[in-house]
Amino acid sequence: MENKKTYYITTPIYYPSDKLHIGHSYTTVAADAASRYKRAQGYDVMFLTGTDEHGQKIQRKAVDKGVTPQQYVDEVVAGIKELWKLLDITHDRFIRTTDQQHVEVVQKIFKKLYDQGDIYKSEYEGWYCTPCESFWTERQLVDGKCPDCGREVELTKEESYFFRLSKYQDRLIQYIEDHPEFIQPQTRQNEMLNNFLRPGLEDLCVSRTSFDWGIPVSFDDKHVVYVWIDALSNYASALGFMTENDSDYKRYWPADVHLVGKEIVRFHTIIWPIMLMALGEPLPKQVFGHGWLILEGGKMSKSKGNVVDPVILVEKYGVDAIRYFLLREVPFGSDGVYSEEALVNRLNSDLANDLGNLLSRTVTMIDKYFGGVLPAFVDSKDPLDASLIELAEATSVKVEDLMEKLLFSNALAEIWKLVGRTNKYIDETMPWVLAKDEAKKARLGTVLYNLAESLRITAVLISPFMPNTPLRIFEQLGIVEDSDKVWASVKKFGALKAGAVVKKGGIIFPRVEFAKEEPVKEEPKKEAKQAPVKQEEAKKEEKAAAADPGYITIDDFAKIDFRVAKVLECERVEGADKLLKLQLEVGSEKRQVVSGIAKHYKPEELIGKYVVLVANLKPVKLKGIESNGMILAASNEGALTLVAPVSEISTGSKVS
Ligand code: ME8
Ligand code: MG
Repeated sequence: MENKKTYYITTPIYYPSDKLHIGHSYTTVAADAASRYKRAQGYDVMFLTGTDEHGQKIQRKAVDKGVTPQQYVDEVVAGIKELWKLLDITHDRFIRTTDQQHVEVVQKIFKKLYDQGDIYKSEYEGWYCTPCESFWTERQLVDGKCPDCGREVELTKEESYFFRLSKYQDRLIQYIEDHPEFIQPQTRQNEMLNNFLRPGLEDLCVSRTSFDWGIPVSFDDKHVVYVWIDALSNYASALGFMTENDSDYKRYWPADVHLVGKEIVRFHTIIWPIMLMALGEPLPKQVFGHGWLILEGGKMSKSKGNVVDPVILVEKYGVDAIRYFLLREVPFGSDGVYSEEALVNRLNSDLANDLGNLLSRTVTMIDKYFGGVLPAFVDSKDPLDASLIELAEATSVKVEDLMEKLLFSNALAEIWKLVGRTNKYIDETMPWVLAKDEAKKARLGTVLYNLAESLRITAVLISPFMPNTPLRIFEQLGIVEDSDKVWASVKKFGALKAGAVVKKGGIIFPRVEFAKEEPVKEEPKKEAKQAPVKQEEAKKEEKAAAADPGYITIDDFAKIDFRVAKVLECERVEGADKLLKLQLEVGSEKRQVVSGIAKHYKPEELIGKYVVLVANLKPVKLKGIESNGMILAASNEGALTLVAPVSEISTGSKVS
């Protein structure tokens, strides 16, 4: 134990709002996958999560509900713990900022910084965003609103303590420049340096007197400690920093990684490191700012009303499917569009079709051709076998490399290449043909062995992401030895022993139907009224066009809303050999477009490509499928090419 390498990973501590949504689960599921992976690698892992319970926002919520803040947080926190249980989160510790130990540590930190002159008393006058618990100066406001969330800010004037951020600014810039791995992804590092650090830091107001739901400043108790100073300290207080029992702090600090959403990178890479510098403590090795799951109309949040309840989703689709979707759908670091439809598509294609079918076909064939007993592996020198085996052995190496960089989605994509390759191996070897020829029995045995072994390796590799599915795969394949279930066993193909008795079980991922809600129909009456006016206008336009046939005006052009879009998904339309159905990302929106380009592009070629969309074209149905817009293509005598921006630009950008 003492000699094991340690790995300390944290999630943010969550505000106990009434209900956590799928966006919160995102960070925690990611941290859980990283933790399970590191444990599988033999690390001594400390995975910390918890709740951030103080502040004006919480106090106001409690008042609204007619309970004390403590009653309010106790109830919500119980629900959060339930949610992590439901999602199979394996945190080693859960900190609450109302824990006595945490309260005392924060008071000691504050006092120490005050005693050494880094915190001083003055008066604060400025703007405060209560939902974000953020202070802003007049010039930082955008149209008089919070620059982070766009909501109303409140004018605040009170006697306050201040933290001398300015004193440490140059040291922090130097540190960030010397440690390029400290802020990840790279783009967030540039943002912090250019937008916040280089323009100069103002001293930070670190106490409040206008409310009392917070940690009292020990030497001046009409003040409570600013909630971000309180919250950030959790990463150290949870390990007993500045207490008599600080062995965990000594063992695990500095943290290997703080996983945080991109909007709070600023607090973690400016305030927190400066606190640590002032305390003379080492800085965390990395702060990783992941993107947001976006639901039509902006980032999901309780206050915006468009909440997606993870409890309901888990009940509907199962934990492993939700975890898989969260980690696979969006590259960690980028924003991604969340929709239940996308979730169902992933479930059906990757889990039900690719993995689920592979397992059931394999088990069924071992059952049918070998009475359920796994045949022996014979090294056949067959090139088909060699290519499967080579990929199976190489996959863990790729997955390890990607997991070290927290690239969960890419790691899963690599594993699914193996799943795809294994499915293809069935098509190539055609076991049902081999089965007809008694002389090919040994070959058939090898083929089925290879399928089972490849599935075993897959099951081990997915275990950090999906904790339940591997158990079901092992059970159906009749794998009982623990040594066949551990990470070390996936390096070498052929660990599985012949003679295992397979057990046909249920379908591990049943396909699900997604019921799309019917769009609200327009009222026909209004249409009828407007029609004559429209006709009049159309006539006028026709006349104008006839008078000046060669030109359109800039106003005509401006009527067309061209947008940059990215192809997220693409598939053929059954029964229409010219049509492709594309799912596009257009800023925070998702669009479905049907396009007649199937003769020119294969669906898989287009995924990830940027295109130009006519976004305000009236929706039509093609072969019964709704098409919301049109993508631009150039064509000439049977040749066709899509029109795309020359260099990268965010989707949703206007083309004019
Ligand atoms: O910020 N997509 O807490 P919080 C992705 N208490 N991530 C999301 C998300 C979404 N739609 N919505 C929320 C706080 N998150 C502070 C942290 S740490 C010392 C204090 C993520 O409950 C968000 O980005 O508002 C953040 O990382 C986490 O959930 C907690 O958010
Ligand atoms: Mg937040």
